[in-house]
Formats: sequence, C-alpha cells, structure tokens
Amino acid sequence: MQPFTDAPLQRIAVVGAGFMGCVIAAIYARYGYAVTLSDSNPSALLTFRERTLPIAHGMATSGVTAQDIVDRVKIAATLSEGISGAQLVHEVVQEDLVVKQVLFAELDRLCAPDVVLATNTSSYLLSHLCRDVVHKGRVIGIHYITPAHVVRVVELVVADFTPSALIDWARSFLLAIDRTAVVCREKPGFIVNRIQLAMLSEIHRMVGEGLATPADIDAAVRLSLGPRWALWGALACEDLMASKRTGLAILEYMHAQTGQEHFRPSEALRTLVEDGRIGAAAGAGWHSWDSPYADVVMDRDRQLSDLLAWLSERSGASLNVLTR
Ligand SMILES: NC(=O)c1ccc[n+]([C@@H]2O[C@H](COP(=O)([O-])OP(=O)(O)OC[C@H]3O[C@@H](n4cnc5c(N)ncnc54)[C@H](O)[C@@H]3O)[C@@H](O)[C@H]2O)c1
Repeated sequence: MQPFTDAPLQRIAVVGAGFMGCVIAAIYARYGYAVTLSDSNPSALLTFRERTLPIAHGMATSGVTAQDIVDRVKIAATLSEGISGAQLVHEVVQEDLVVKQVLFAELDRLCAPDVVLATNTSSYLLSHLCRDVVHKGRVIGIHYITPAHVVRVVELVVADFTPSALIDWARSFLLAIDRTAVVCREKPGFIVNRIQLAMLSEIHRMVGEGLATPADIDAAVRLSLGPRWALWGALACEDLMASKRTGLAILEYMHAQTGQEHFRPSEALRTLVEDGRIGAAAGAGWHSWDSPYADVVMDRDRQLSDLLAWLSERSGASLNVLTR
C-alpha cells in the first residue's frame, strides 16, 4: 500500500521543537501546508514563536509575513494530537539513537501504514532507527542542512527497504518547497557530513602538527578550494583542474610518505586513469565534457575570476571572525 503516491500532501506533523524542528515546521508552514508541532518538553513548545519569528523573517514573501508563518504552525499538546491526520510525520528530536528508535516504533504503531515517516537524523542509519518498525517501506531520511531556511539542498537518505516510489514522492515534495534533493544510501555521515568531517578532521590534524596557522588554512580554503567547489562541486572541479594522472601520482606519493589509509588512491580513480578518462581536457572524467576544451577553460576562468572578485570585496571580519 503506497497512498503517498496518490493524495496531495496537505498535513504535516513535525515532532521535536528544538533548534531544527522549529525551522522545519516554519518552512512547511511557509509553503502552505497544515503543520502541527509537538514536543515531549512543553517549554520547547511555549517558546516556539519567539525562537522562530527571527528566522521566519528571512522566509517571508510579499504575500506571507513572518507572523503568518509562525501563526500557521499549530502547537499540539501531545504526540497523538500532533500526528492526527498527518500524511507526513517528520521526526526532528535530538540525536539519540535509543530515543529515536523508541519514537519510531511508537509512530509506526500509531500511524496508518500509508503515512510517511521521515527523520532528520544527521548520522544514524535508517536500518538502525527502524529496528522495531514493522512498516519500514514508509521510512525515509529527509535531512536538512543548517541554516535550513537558507540552504536549498536536502539529503534524501534511503535504505535497501526504501521503495523507489517513496524516493520519487519525497523528491517531488522537496521540489514543491523549492528544495533540491540529493539521494544518498545510508552510510554514516551521508554526503555532506562525510565530506565535511573528513576534511575538518584532516585540517584539525594539520593545525595540531603546526603545518600552518588557522588563519592561513582558512585563507587558502576561502580563496581557492571553497570558490572552486562552490562553482562546480568537487568532482567536476577535479575534472576541470588537472589530469587525473597527476592526482593519482600525488595521492600515491602522499600515501607512501604518510602511510595514512585515507590517502590510498581509490579503485574508482585508478579505473578512470586506465580508461583515459583523465578530465575535461580528454573530454571525460567523472563527467562528460562535450564542448571544446579551450571553451571550457575560458568559461572556467571567467566564472572563477568573477567569484574571486566578489569575495575579495568581503573579508572574514564581516562575520565578526577574529583571525589569529
Ligand atoms: N542542530 C543542527 O544544526 C542540525 C542540523 C541538521 C540535522 N540535525 C538533526 O536534527 C535533529 C534535531 O536536532 P536539534 O539540534 O534540533 O535538537 P534539539 O536538542 O535542539 O531539539 C530536540 C527536541 O526534541 C525534543 N524531544 C526529545 N525527545 C522527544 C520525543 N520522544 N518526542 C518529542 N520530542 C522529543 C526535545 O525536547 C527537544 O526540544 C537531530 O537528529 C540532529 O542530528 C541537526
């Protein structure tokens, strides 16, 4: 039974009125859904409006004020009142596996099998969350990234038991609220946190080794890696910047010098090099590059110059960052 593919979505229940739950409830209200918000801690519900109003200002439009957005969220005194009639229940309670497992088992018992159960977990596998869930085929990860009312990409986390119809449904739902879905199989960290935490962990080690100062590391990221990735993403950027033969040689050297496993070149990279798919210059890398390489390079340089010029007008100080 998969009615989530038929009836138009109208009613959403958000469970958990903490940092993220308030923002997610406001996003759904902003797009006109009937939203209820519940929390096991009554004081979280009491302070919902004052905590959410400043964020709602950033979501207001000519037709919908910040006050309208928060007023549209109906506060429910209990979980069962909150989820009553909901077609989508979005769990946004704190990152505690046992708490989420107990809640999911309860939601599974209380909600008809056609109600979609979503989780905003940042790290747990759906398989672990669903330990005591009978109707696993209605569970999906809808993981917002902070600040959720500003960031437009949302991770859809799926398990082997997630039907493709539910992924399509969730994708359409996110499109309707002006979000772009990226689909990710359940593995710790999903997409964004896995990349971000791997890089941060390496940067922390670099600081610890005294390799460079925090200020110089941030300047290097802000003025090279960051803009390049912002424009094209990691893999297209790799295609655009250098031959994968060079990248492979560097990784082999770093792996041999440091012995660190995360520098060992992947089989995926070796296969690309063996196949001659070494990047934009060869017409193919991780992506296909159909335009003449000279055009690709000119376009690349123009886009990067524009972004760097824009960035050079701003400094870390604009965010009150004190560099050391
Ligand atoms: N904070 C972030 O930047 C961020 C970003 C992305 C994803 N997330 C994820 O979002 C989820 C929520 O994080 P948060 O930072 O909003 O947490 P939080 O601690 O601010 O809020 C959690 C809320 O859940 C309530 N709660 C706890 N158990 C409950 C239950 N059984 N039923 C109903 N309510 C219950 C708490 O009273 C609290 O108000 C987590 O899974 C987290 O990993 C957080």
